[in-house]
Amino acid sequence: MSEKKPLLEISNIDTYYGVIHILQQVNLRVDEGELVCLLGGNACGKSTTLKTILGMVKPKVGKIMFAGEDVTHQNTPARVKLGMAVVPENRRLFAPMTVLENLKIGAYVRGEAAEEDLERVYELFPKLKERSSQLAGTLSGGEQQMVAVGRALMSHPRLILMDEPSMGLAPKLVEQSFEMIANLHSQGVSMLIVEQNANMALSVADRGYVLQTGRIVLEGEAKELAGHEELRRAYLGR
Ligand SMILES: Nc1ncnc2c1ncn2[C@@H]1O[C@H](COP(=O)(O)OP(=O)(O)OP(=O)(O)O)[C@@H](O)[C@H]1O
Ligand SMILES: [Mg+2]
Repeated sequence: MSEKKPLLEISNIDTYYGVIHILQQVNLRVDEGELVCLLGGNACGKSTTLKTILGMVKPKVGKIMFAGEDVTHQNTPARVKLGMAVVPENRRLFAPMTVLENLKIGAYVRGEAAEEDLERVYELFPKLKERSSQLAGTLSGGEQQMVAVGRALMSHPRLILMDEPSMGLAPKLVEQSFEMIANLHSQGVSMLIVEQNANMALSVADRGYVLQTGRIVLEGEAKELAGHEELRRAYLGR
């Protein structure tokens, strides 16, 4: 237990959109090297949690610590500079730009894209090398997912925040996508993954949290959660 080093710690977060109270007293932690999943159904506040962590939405109450710094009042670029990278909902690539151009954008915060970073991404996703000059908007869903993850890796992030990597992908690609996530995890990349596909997410995660209408209602080791009776009934379809 003592070797655990918190990388991200959000405490007592309350987030509103106007007068609508979305996140309620949310506490969540990701340790160095850990893969944590945040599970929950539609509209429960999963993306809002990621946006709050990234500083795209300001919480009314609460504190966000990242890499040893209090980032609660820092803007998004400052948090990205400190090492947050996002793989947004629906990938959000720059469709009229090539694969290579999309990847280079990921390195923007560090200045010029280094050749060795590109090589690392290409090693992880050889397909992207073959298709480096193809327009991102013409890639298949699975390929777009690779670009989105590759783009995040280009910034040398300390933490990757992923919003529903399985969304819109055929079952086989969902499996591949989670294999890739497990592979990154085994290389020591810290990740927070938001998912509705609880089965898949829990199969690769170390720990998980369950969000229900803006509140964390359950948390624990992924193995424990996968066997949790209530969660199985609510989210795992068994
Ligand atoms: N900019 C906004 N202004 C007002 N309400 C918003 C805004 N963004 C999100 N909401 C509302 O906040 C609630 C939570 O949204 P959020 O996107 O966090 O859900 P989610 O858990 O990511 O859902 P999904 O699984 O469908 O992506 C929803 O009811 C949504 O309509
Ligand atoms: Mg969402």
